[in-house]
Amino acid sequence: MKRFLTGLQPSGALHIGNYFGALKPFVDQYRSYESFLMVVDYHALTSLKDPAALRENILSATKDYLAAGVDPEQVTLFQQSQVQEHTELAWILECLVTVPFLELSHAYKDKLAKGLEANAGLFNYPMLMAADILLYDTDIVPVGADQRQHVEYAREAAAKFNNTYELLFKEPQGLIQETVATVPGTDGKKMSKSYKNTIPLFGSRDDIAQAVMSIVTDSSGERPEHVYAIHSLFKDAPALDALYEVHRGKYKALKEALIEDVDALVAPMREKRASISDADVVRVLAEGSARAKEKAGAKMQAVRKAIGVVL
Ligand code: TYM
Repeated sequence: MKRFLTGLQPSGALHIGNYFGALKPFVDQYRSYESFLMVVDYHALTSLKDPAALRENILSATKDYLAAGVDPEQVTLFQQSQVQEHTELAWILECLVTVPFLELSHAYKDKLAKGLEANAGLFNYPMLMAADILLYDTDIVPVGADQRQHVEYAREAAAKFNNTYELLFKEPQGLIQETVATVPGTDGKKMSKSYKNTIPLFGSRDDIAQAVMSIVTDSSGERPEHVYAIHSLFKDAPALDALYEVHRGKYKALKEALIEDVDALVAPMREKRASISDADVVRVLAEGSARAKEKAGAKMQAVRKAIGVVL
């Protein structure tokens, strides 16, 4: 059975870009594969240094996955930091790639351009992500378009290792669904926590309404393009075109219709989420991480042998 794996950073509340770009494709397809889903808490450390917030975000992100339809009996759902093999393999991969190669990272350059601290973790981020993927012999990685290059880095890291030592790693494929590859935010740019243009996935109805009402509209057109673009995630084109025809030029009515549609999707998940306790999350992550550790541990033993540190 092919292996299917993805991860999301617990760096803040999930938004509908994360949901449509990565979580929903994962939930829709994981039953056809042997599947792995990670809370990548060590990646979040590149930007988040508040221990209470990190702890809270790990609990909260895991509740989001479970509420969105991830069954921990069928998916190895785990916490990256509980499987130390990830950081161990990342180091080995870092010793195989060059600084100029890592300097090509768009994500790194974008973050610097936004004024984020250029810590060494941020720079080495792609090799930790490569380790996340390669440790499990992953075939397919469902992600949004912004992660395309990161999956490419994982392929290159696998090839570098295989050429230098022995053929141990599979080169994974990214799975990027074009219609949701880059979900736009309330200002039309890519939806992103750091642009403050998000619609929260598990916000209250009021939070959703507030975010939708803040979608930037261009008063010259008949159809508010940014509203329409987000709305197209929730309704197919014929239904949407009919709705936008009936409410031609009535931006407020269209935004209210969008609030209804977002809330209709989220309400059942929100209800399910409210029934999941912190203790449930701790148990699920401990079980999943133990399962992941078994696989990662065996793989790392082969890696240690291949590089020459097993005497
Ligand atoms: P992160 O936490 O930034 O985002 C999680 C997932 O959400 C997708 N995404 C979007 N998709 C469409 N439109 C958007 N506006 C949008 N914003 C975010 C991202 O593409 C991602 O799939 N480096 C990864 C986490 C990671 C990972 C991994 C992923 C670490 N290790 C191994 C896969 C496999 C990240 O920062 O995602």
